[in-house]
Amino acid sequence: MFYRPEDGHGLPRNPFNALITPRPIGWISTRGADGRDNLAPYSFFNAVAYVPPQVMFASTSAKPDRGDTKDSVGNIRETGVFAVNVVSYALKDAMNATSAGLGREEDEFAVAGLEKAPCETIDCPRVAAAPATLECRLVQIVQLPGEANFVTFGEVTGVHIRDEVLKDGFVDLTAYVPLTRLGYRDYGKIDSLFTLARPDD
Ligand SMILES: Cc1cc2nc3c(=O)[nH]c(=O)nc-3n(C[C@H](O)[C@H](O)[C@H](O)COP(=O)(O)O)c2cc1C
Repeated sequence: MFYRPEDGHGLPRNPFNALITPRPIGWISTRGADGRDNLAPYSFFNAVAYVPPQVMFASTSAKPDRGDTKDSVGNIRETGVFAVNVVSYALKDAMNATSAGLGREEDEFAVAGLEKAPCETIDCPRVAAAPATLECRLVQIVQLPGEANFVTFGEVTGVHIRDEVLKDGFVDLTAYVPLTRLGYRDYGKIDSLFTLARPDD
């Protein structure tokens, strides 16, 4: 088939994000100017630069109590900081629980029964049980065409890696099961790895 998005796809569900898989999940923690903590998963997420290390996530659509966006971007606008928590398969249900459309006053850490840990370089909570966390300072929020489409770029100012995830100085992706987002309500668990040398290695 071929379709132009402006004409509609004619399928039972939009196939768009099922074609861009697997996607990492940035589990974004923030603290509002009022001191309230927030946590939500974003799979329009990735690393975008090494030096300095930078990441991005994209927020689409808005919450009625947040004006033109959701709580994560709203809080980052207020404070200029956020943390990206890595999601393991073991944390999938907690991650999913934090995607609920809750009021801005609700703390998803409490809703999902997650322990918080403090960040080192920013005033923001992180998920204590996450295999790793990236502490980030806002670089830029870019508004994209369409309603409530915002891409947030952040520079990584601190990196937490759980001790058991480091083996002989390398991040050991067998120490936990990485979780990836597919299309629809589908996910993947990474439980087999292989290595490919590059032509220039
Ligand atoms: C695995 C997963 C990935 C998601 N990815 C995104 C995303 O990339 N962008 C987005 O706007 N919402 C995404 N959502 C929905 C948000 O998590 C949801 O709207 C959440 O309530 C936003 O929370 P907040 O208002 O606290 O920021 C995702 C949900 C799940 C379960």
